[in-house]
Amino acid sequence: MTSQTLREARKYEEASEKMIQPKDRPGFHLSVRIGWMNDPNGFSWYEGRYHLFYQYHPYSSTTGPMHWGHAVSEDLLHWSYLPAALAPDEAYDRDGCFSGSALTLEDGRHLLMYTGVMKERQRDGGLREVQTQCLAVGDGIDYEKYAGNPVLDEMDVPEGGSRFDFRDPKMWKKEDGTYACVVGNRPADGSGQILLYTSPDGFCWHFKRVLISNENRFGKMWECPDFFPLDGKWVLLVSPQDMLPQGFEYHNGNGTVCLIGSYDEETDTFMEEQDQAIDHGIDFYAPQTVEAPDGRRIMIGWMQNWDACGIRTPEELWSGQMSLPRELSIRNGRLYQRPIRELDRLRRGKVVYEQVPVSGEIRLEGIKGRRVDMELRIRPAQGAELYQKFAVRFAQDERYRTSLSFRPWESVLKIDRKFSGSRRAIVHQRRSLVRSEGGVLELRVILDSFSAEIFVNDGEQALSMTMYTDLTAEGISFFADGQAVMDITKYDLAAD
Ligand code: FRU
Repeated sequence: MTSQTLREARKYEEASEKMIQPKDRPGFHLSVRIGWMNDPNGFSWYEGRYHLFYQYHPYSSTTGPMHWGHAVSEDLLHWSYLPAALAPDEAYDRDGCFSGSALTLEDGRHLLMYTGVMKERQRDGGLREVQTQCLAVGDGIDYEKYAGNPVLDEMDVPEGGSRFDFRDPKMWKKEDGTYACVVGNRPADGSGQILLYTSPDGFCWHFKRVLISNENRFGKMWECPDFFPLDGKWVLLVSPQDMLPQGFEYHNGNGTVCLIGSYDEETDTFMEEQDQAIDHGIDFYAPQTVEAPDGRRIMIGWMQNWDACGIRTPEELWSGQMSLPRELSIRNGRLYQRPIRELDRLRRGKVVYEQVPVSGEIRLEGIKGRRVDMELRIRPAQGAELYQKFAVRFAQDERYRTSLSFRPWESVLKIDRKFSGSRRAIVHQRRSLVRSEGGVLELRVILDSFSAEIFVNDGEQALSMTMYTDLTAEGISFFADGQAVMDITKYDLAAD
């Protein structure tokens, strides 16, 4: 039975999405149907298509009592909205249906697991959010909340673990047909830990062990865990709050971390070997992955961040878009991310220039646009000294520009959206160390109206950011201080 709260949300979204013109949305990135979006949820392949749910507050473009929005796609680039899947309509989730995941049960039904939030009056008079894990079962459109909810509550948290920070279950099916999930939690030391639970049937869940403790290394509370095998290793993705910078890493407050290691399924022991940031841009948080039918591990993140969401005003009709879906792999012990190969099918109008000398600012015929896929290979001019700086500027006109600049002497790549027309000067710059020898750098820049995603050295690093610059600013230019040479291949990306 659909509750009144959900029926109202469905009616509201259907009526109000019409206020947004397709041209005012990204072309091939999923954006919120109406109102506010944060984390990707329930990313899954179900009955022949990908389902992506998301944290959703339809009634304003700021956060509010969370619903689950819902969209489907066959290629992760062309999206259709389905009616909102969950609304905060039960006592145990009346203050929000927070993040979670999805899988297909043996009998073919789609199972969602999410965090139910209920505010509880404390002795000091304040309110705190009690968080529990809950289930809903459905057919890919309508979901019924499980009568036995919540299935995990404070009784299932190990000693010292907080019942106020206990959220974001990510489930998977194990090879033996049973189920497991990881949940983020705050232990007594105030930092994060990831709890592992198992279930014989997807409904009855038991605490297994603490999979890993943060011990105050990466920020505090760890949100939105995801845990999966990849290229012979196991990978844990987490999104820590309250991060502090380490050199050029983790400058965003809310960060994303990838831990690579090995996992002994007999003893449920994760042995961590490597850590790295997932994204080096400004807007990326709470990623979630799915295993595609062909075995690829695909990740999507919320292309925004709690620390910089002020880039959208409350008056906007929509706030929130997802990152490009990215294919993950491990090379030399590190996580690589590449835009999904389906994106190649959107390419139109190839323009190629080879060995273009760049000194000062130049523009090239046929190179402009806001829905663009551009591959650049930069190097010093032959016989010349190493250049001081190379930059590519886009979303550019007399007033605006967003830039990506590289200083080979420091091996630092900087993104800067100060002049992107945002309503106030929030976090607009980010520098990161990249791997480059002798001034050679490979960049793939993907623009989709209101965002730029940059993939460095064939996916070794990714930098994501949003920019809400006027769409008429579609210039692209190149700049070098010194003498650089570049090869460039550019396509327009057509989503229709
Ligand atoms: C991460 C997060 C999750 C939570 C959700 C609430 O961005 O804080 O931990 O489930 O957002 O919308």
